Amino acid sequence: MSKYKIRNICCIGAGYVGGPTMAVFAEHCKDLKIVVSDINKERIKLWNNKNVSNLPIYEPGLGEIVLNTRDKNLFFTNNIEESIRNADMIFISVNTPTKTKGVGAGKASDLRWVEASARQIAQYATGHTIVVEKSTLPVRTAKTIQKILFNSQNNNTNESKKTFSVLSNPEFLSEGNAIADLENPERVLIGGEDSEAIDALAKIYKNWIPNDRIIRTNIWSSELSKLTANAFLAQRISSINAISAICELTEADVNQVSKSIGMDSRIGNKFLSPGPGFGGSCFQKDILNLVYLCEHYNLHEVARYWEQVLTINNWQKDRISSLVVNKLFGTVSNKKLAILGFAFKANTNDTRNSASIKICKDLIEEGAILSIYDPKVKKNQIMNDLGINPLDLSEDEEKEIWTNSESLDEAIQDTHAIIILTEWSEFKEIKWDKLFKNMAKPAWIFDTRSIINVNLARKAGFNVWQIGNLTK
Ligand code: NAD
Ligand code: UGA
Repeated sequence: MSKYKIRNICCIGAGYVGGPTMAVFAEHCKDLKIVVSDINKERIKLWNNKNVSNLPIYEPGLGEIVLNTRDKNLFFTNNIEESIRNADMIFISVNTPTKTKGVGAGKASDLRWVEASARQIAQYATGHTIVVEKSTLPVRTAKTIQKILFNSQNNNTNESKKTFSVLSNPEFLSEGNAIADLENPERVLIGGEDSEAIDALAKIYKNWIPNDRIIRTNIWSSELSKLTANAFLAQRISSINAISAICELTEADVNQVSKSIGMDSRIGNKFLSPGPGFGGSCFQKDILNLVYLCEHYNLHEVARYWEQVLTINNWQKDRISSLVVNKLFGTVSNKKLAILGFAFKANTNDTRNSASIKICKDLIEEGAILSIYDPKVKKNQIMNDLGINPLDLSEDEEKEIWTNSESLDEAIQDTHAIIILTEWSEFKEIKWDKLFKNMAKPAWIFDTRSIINVNLARKAGFNVWQIGNLTK
């Protein structure tokens, strides 16, 4: 039993982590009042939208949970001050992107939002507050948070009224699978120095997670474990992508290789699917962050080692756009190409760092006219990611670069090639013989996710390139 009684929770940041995580907390802990607060007014408005298909984040199963908990014990607000003031426990779940300027630009995490959150907490918190790092942070960030909070504690005129414990509780959910990951995590990691505070957080998780899956560590191990987990996962993808290129030249089949090595329990069978290069908001930024830390500690060889994971990832994207051009007789200028999938993976509307962005930009640069179809990504998002400003172009000029398609059939009309970039399940079930007649000939399919039945597509008349397989 912890001496801290938790009744009110605040989460700063209503993003891909804050929103779904707190929804699952609210679902399992009816006695807690949970307030998710954000500076972004539009985001909060969408979280409060009556129609849950308008939530700012698409995650299977999220809508139902929000419907069951919202305005009962789960609230979304822009009133950060009040939500902090009332909270016994505060999760910092804000964005930590790579710095774009100043010291460490291009590698270090930009901690300005974390620092701002810590300062807001220092200012408005009352009584004893357990502050939990949910965002992914460089190892030793807790020190900074502690300094900001403990300073305000010392400045407090009535010291008994404001005290803090700082914990690290990184999130391991993966997008598209967030609810399942949160409902049934393989482990929950809590790092900290105040064992009573750790107990208080563990007690919340124990409402639905077995105790033996709740790991307690020191705060630095917890921070570093999160970066390490993402680095190892990304490393596996770069490893299999590197092997995919060898397969394409040797008649080895990458799926057979994945299966063969994955049955060795020391290797394991997950995260061995080749693809166009990993995307998402975290793998690249967390590895860059690790590289930055290594350099900070003068571990230059270690920094170079992890950097290679990103080098291969970028190379994979580049080689895909190049081979599309090569296969289409060395030019895609004025050729219409269908892009299937823009999200960085299936079952999410998130496009951050999606391989599709770089590949589409490269193809546009080569003069291709893209028709892009993604079942969940909105037109504005795609335009933003591609750096297309509609105000700079007439409607006709824009059509010379790209169109947003509302359906698969619309996307492929009169195209020379279909390039599958996201593994949405509807792309696995395409009836190739139906599509073939509507395409320019020779018609190509580039399957960068290895999800289609190549024999059926070839039988329908297509030329097919599939990742990790020799094109015959
Ligand atoms: P996000 O950008 O979707 O959400 C962050 C939110 O924080 C934004 O809505 C932003 O407006 C808000 N915010 C920023 N500063 C604020 C402040 N001072 N007060 C109130 N709100 C503020 O980011 P995300 O994807 O949810 O990621 C959050 C953190 O979790 C990152 O550190 C990320 O590395 C980590 N993480 C993300 C995932 C994932 O799948 N996306 C998984 C595990 C961990
Ligand atoms: C990843 C981790 O899996 C989570 O544990 C972690 O919490 C999260 O990052 C984070 O810190 O943000 P996420 O990025 O949502 O989750 O999605 P993943 O399923 O890991 O996929 C990342 C990228 O790798 C996607 O582009 C995906 O298509 C690609 N991938 C994944 C492959 O190319 N091959 C695979 O075998 C697996």
